[in-house]
Amino acid sequence: MRISVIGVGYVGLVTGACFAETGNDVVCMDIDKERVKGLKQGVIPIYEPHLEELVKNNIKEGRLQFTTDIKKAVEHGLIIFICVNTPQDGDGSADLQYVMNVANDIGKNIQKYRIVIIKSTVPVGTCHKVKDAIAKELKKRGADISFDIASNPEFLKEGVAVEDCMKPERVVIGVEHERVEEILRELYEPFIRTGAPFLVMDVKSSEMTKYTANSMLATRISFMNQIANICERLGADVMMVMRGIGSDSRIGPKFLFPGVGFGGSCFPKDVRALINTSQGCGYEPTILEKVMEVNEQQRALFAEKIISFYHGKLKGRKFAVWGLAFKPNTDDMREAPSIEVVNALTKNGAFCNLFDPKAMDVATSIFVKNKNIRFGKNQYEVLKGADGLILMTEWLSFREPDFDKIKSLMKTPVIFDGRNQYNPRSMARLGFKYVCIGRPMAH
Ligand SMILES: NC(=O)c1ccc[n+]([C@@H]2O[C@H](COP(=O)([O-])OP(=O)(O)OC[C@H]3O[C@@H](n4cnc5c(N)ncnc54)[C@H](O)[C@@H]3O)[C@@H](O)[C@H]2O)c1
Repeated sequence: MRISVIGVGYVGLVTGACFAETGNDVVCMDIDKERVKGLKQGVIPIYEPHLEELVKNNIKEGRLQFTTDIKKAVEHGLIIFICVNTPQDGDGSADLQYVMNVANDIGKNIQKYRIVIIKSTVPVGTCHKVKDAIAKELKKRGADISFDIASNPEFLKEGVAVEDCMKPERVVIGVEHERVEEILRELYEPFIRTGAPFLVMDVKSSEMTKYTANSMLATRISFMNQIANICERLGADVMMVMRGIGSDSRIGPKFLFPGVGFGGSCFPKDVRALINTSQGCGYEPTILEKVMEVNEQQRALFAEKIISFYHGKLKGRKFAVWGLAFKPNTDDMREAPSIEVVNALTKNGAFCNLFDPKAMDVATSIFVKNKNIRFGKNQYEVLKGADGLILMTEWLSFREPDFDKIKSLMKTPVIFDGRNQYNPRSMARLGFKYVCIGRPMAH
């Protein structure tokens, strides 16, 4: 099938590469000239496991092309996927300017029947806005060309995006006509051979499904963070409680890990956008509002925990920070809790030595103006002379580090664990002061 993908970020690049891998002829278009220039030479602008080999291989096989030419992209694909960013606007709503720019461009360039599919996460009603915008451009041109729109929200997770795309747990599509359903069923057939459900619904329900999924997952995290904060005050161990409830099949074990809160390019902005949408239709979504409030508090609480450990005297103290990305296996630092925690410490006069296995370039640009920050070459180098080690992202290489080496490098053996990665009793035995989330301190 001939497919075009507009917007070649985390979602667009993975989508384009995976569709090319199953034999489709894919053209990916982006307005970012540098990005497209690099991609043509096989330079991948983001870190995502297995993506580089997938992109390079499909370029070599001639199934994957990159362009900045929207006309070429609209001409190429029977199916056009819109995968551009939908960032948060000032009032918390989703900023749809990029989606609508693409809709206008499609309307200006469409020459024959096309199916326009919105993969970007967009508020209920956006697909219909896109349809109206294309129709308006066609009317301006006096052109009588038919087209269909559909919603096909993306559920991939950064860090395992290629795997999620190749083996989705489900595919959701929102369509207005059966003909579109048939074509999309054919396109997705290789990905759902093992029996993953292909769920067909109306466009609005499909748009709403994506926001509901992210809001539900965010709710579980904030819920468990509250439980952790209660456990901490009562001397209960939240990790035990988590296992105790996660083995209940009605609850399940996923997304129950307490920590410094959720971040990334999706959960915070999507929950805020749903709050905004809900308020816009006259309904106060109190649960969602609290989910965000708890999440923001959780980062601040962790920073406060570190500050109060030193009785508020942070001036001149040195911290090693392990992990900056909002989660492991990505270099994405959008809304990463590490940013807030590091800024809170340096604002109080501390120095932070940062290390992340993949997000160092991104971190350099984020902290460029912060004079109290240094960047380390590896996870041990940043520990030299440190008053404390702060774990912010649970990368695999931080899970079972050489604790003797850590201790020998640090000035004082103190670990602040924002992801509950280590065992408090082992930490005490090894001679560390260990501060984590929702667990009693071992002595
Ligand atoms: N990142 C994720 O894990 C994830 C998962 C599921 C859904 N989503 C949703 O998918 C969408 C894309 O997210 P992302 O993380 O891939 O974004 P991104 O910021 O990584 O990439 C967006 C790309 O779109 C390009 N773009 C913007 N305007 C354009 C235009 N007019 N024409 C062509 N290209 C244009 C940008 O240059 C950029 O390369 C968002 O709505 C997001 O909420 C993201």
